[in-house]
Amino acid sequence: MEFFNREKEIKEILSIIEFEPNFIYFIYGPINSGKTALINEIINNRLDNDKYVVFYINLRRYFISKYDDFIALLFKEYSEDKKPLELIKGLIKDSPLIFGIPIPKNTLEILLSKNEEVNVFDYITNLLLDIKKEGKQPIIILDELQKIGDLKINGFLIYELFNYFISLTKEMHLSHVFCLSSDSLFIEKVYNEAMLNGRAKYLLVDDFDKETALKFMDFLSKRILNKTLSKEEKELIYSYVGGKPVLIIKVIDKLKYKKLDNILNSMLKEEIAKLDMFLELLDYHKPKIKIKDEVIEIKKALKIFKDRYKVPKKGIPMPVYIYLIKENILFLDPIEGTLKPQSHLVWNAIKRLL
Ligand SMILES: Nc1ncnc2c1ncn2[C@@H]1O[C@H](COP(=O)(O)OP(=O)(O)OP(=O)(O)O)[C@@H](O)[C@H]1O
Ligand SMILES: [Mg+2]
Repeated sequence: MEFFNREKEIKEILSIIEFEPNFIYFIYGPINSGKTALINEIINNRLDNDKYVVFYINLRRYFISKYDDFIALLFKEYSEDKKPLELIKGLIKDSPLIFGIPIPKNTLEILLSKNEEVNVFDYITNLLLDIKKEGKQPIIILDELQKIGDLKINGFLIYELFNYFISLTKEMHLSHVFCLSSDSLFIEKVYNEAMLNGRAKYLLVDDFDKETALKFMDFLSKRILNKTLSKEEKELIYSYVGGKPVLIIKVIDKLKYKKLDNILNSMLKEEIAKLDMFLELLDYHKPKIKIKDEVIEIKKALKIFKDRYKVPKKGIPMPVYIYLIKENILFLDPIEGTLKPQSHLVWNAIKRLL
């Protein structure tokens, strides 16, 4: 799928990248809002190949239960008889993107053994320094960082990592660091973390606003259907699925062989069925959250959204909104202090059922 828009976000991220590294950046937003797609677009099409080396690590597809699992994902072993920098030079000829940090075979075990002076982070730092000496700016991107949020080594792995990232950005100005996550509870924890105070910044990649969503529909219908949709059709699509790119793509794609009303109604029906099941199960085995009359409170909280899309988080008791976020029904913007349904589709289901 061809990439659409996000010019404002791209401009902001590029201007951060052009300046010297000073902060850890957290890119957050609702599920499927297009965070990963945005970062990929920047790496693949918007960066000057000669100036940057990008290490991209996506934790999504992996099961990570201990420190060694994470380290294994961070690095990529190679067996050629080359210095890591030489290997990198070869890799970045066509694109600045490198998956995992290259390390010669058998080196990792040595670095991980406790009696070694240099550790894995020193190895990375030295490599980044070498890259900088070559006149290139390193960028580290970690996607789905929340997956190591609860992992313990001596303390929590995440703290060790944050400390390291602070040294790379604020102290040494050596590498840019971007962390992506759609887990809003993780972002809230990060946001309230004292050690990151003044050392991290937050960029929201939200679903498209209405104007952009309608333009995205034009963009897609021209390419997929080879026709334009009427204003009424676009408004109707927006009223069902809002500005979530992936849902708009789904609707337009189905228009190849299905009527718009049928598409939208069956998508909503599916979402209503999911929410209905959730509510039934709620009555059946009352969730163990730290609040009295939890079922009543959860339903009361959902009802607030009947006539509003976004509410201040103070309007809903914390155990209730945490539960609804974990169930992927609500999204929390910790920086703005607001809660909203994960999508317009969920919102519509709430309006119908409660
Ligand atoms: N700007 C865009 N232009 C075209 N397609 C897009 C755009 N943004 C997102 N998409 C589409 O939406 C899909 C989901 O986006 P993406 O995986 O980037 O979301 P995400 O926010 O990273 O999701 P998650 O919350 O699961 O991490 C992409 O595979 C892509 O097809
Ligand atoms: Mg993603």
